[in-house]
Amino acid sequence: MTLVASSATPSVVSTPTPRIVSGMRPTGRMHLGHYQGALKNWIALSDAYDCFFFSADWHALTTHYRDASIVRESEREMIADWIAAGLDPAKVTLFKQSAVKQHAELFLLLGMVTPLGWLERVPTYKEQKEQLADRDLNMLGFLGYPVLQTADIAAYGAQRVPVGQDQVSHLELAREVVRRFNSFYGPVLVEPQPLVTPTPKVLGTDGRKMSKSYGNAIELGEAEDSARKKIMGMVTDPARVRRQDPGNPDVCGIYYLHKGYSSAERVATVDRECRTAGIGCVDCKKWLLEGLLPSLEKHRAARADLEKQPELVQLTLERGNKRAAEVAETTLQHVREAMKLQ
Ligand code: TRP
Ligand code: SF4
Repeated sequence: MTLVASSATPSVVSTPTPRIVSGMRPTGRMHLGHYQGALKNWIALSDAYDCFFFSADWHALTTHYRDASIVRESEREMIADWIAAGLDPAKVTLFKQSAVKQHAELFLLLGMVTPLGWLERVPTYKEQKEQLADRDLNMLGFLGYPVLQTADIAAYGAQRVPVGQDQVSHLELAREVVRRFNSFYGPVLVEPQPLVTPTPKVLGTDGRKMSKSYGNAIELGEAEDSARKKIMGMVTDPARVRRQDPGNPDVCGIYYLHKGYSSAERVATVDRECRTAGIGCVDCKKWLLEGLLPSLEKHRAARADLEKQPELVQLTLERGNKRAAEVAETTLQHVREAMKLQ
């Protein structure tokens, strides 16, 4: 792990490892969408970067403010799933957003310079409000979601932020807010660039984006029977009605899952044979299960192993919270000075 800007003269010249920050909201069990869309990438990046990954519990509250019990219940599960999936707690800094109060302070200060119009224009703001019509999201906290996200990133001076395609608009806002801040107070904050996960979005069993709130998700440690049922019942190309109809894999969630769980040859075969009606969807799904089921089994085994070290998650978070707070406090000192608050 590389420490930044040590004041002691280093005896060896070392280039600081570039830093990345990313978070996930603890709003339920981790599913394949989280893995393919983010976690897999986090794991791949953890050797090359100084990584800060956190549980975005305050962000979870923006939509779950009425009953936050799911947030508390999911957090330990989520971190355990990260570790079981292969994120090495010895290599990366894992922490909890609400344990590092500097995020809240920076959020408040950035809020002073963020025009409301910018926030109203963020596409996810309108989309989410429509999709989660069962709750009242006309709240300051919800509108300010991307500002809090900006604070999460800027507090660590992260150059890069690994995110899925759906977060790119938040990163754009983050860059604009940082630029505006720097233009008022001097070059204090780092403009973050997105590091977009290359995998296409993961669709759920109903053909919409995989999401806990749609009830269409397959969990990382989903039991075999239930995973099999979900896959066999999953929506495919809706235009492919009969076995002899040619299909379009680009609109089919099964095809996207093949990309994550089958060999490159098999993905190519599916792509070809689907378009010519050479294979049927039932066979295509069985092929997918050959790769998917062992992967779920491996995850369940890793989770069971983790249960043998019940304090690991807690200790990891305690260590991570401490390091995160140290780094964030250094940034906040610069911010307070630049704004003439101290
Ligand atoms: N908004 C992100 C999501 O829903 C979660 C998040 C919160 C995040 N803060 C962040 C991601 C900072 C990257 C960096 O997935
Ligand atoms: Fe989807 Fe496979 Fe059916 Fe094509 S053959 S529509 S990729 S399930």
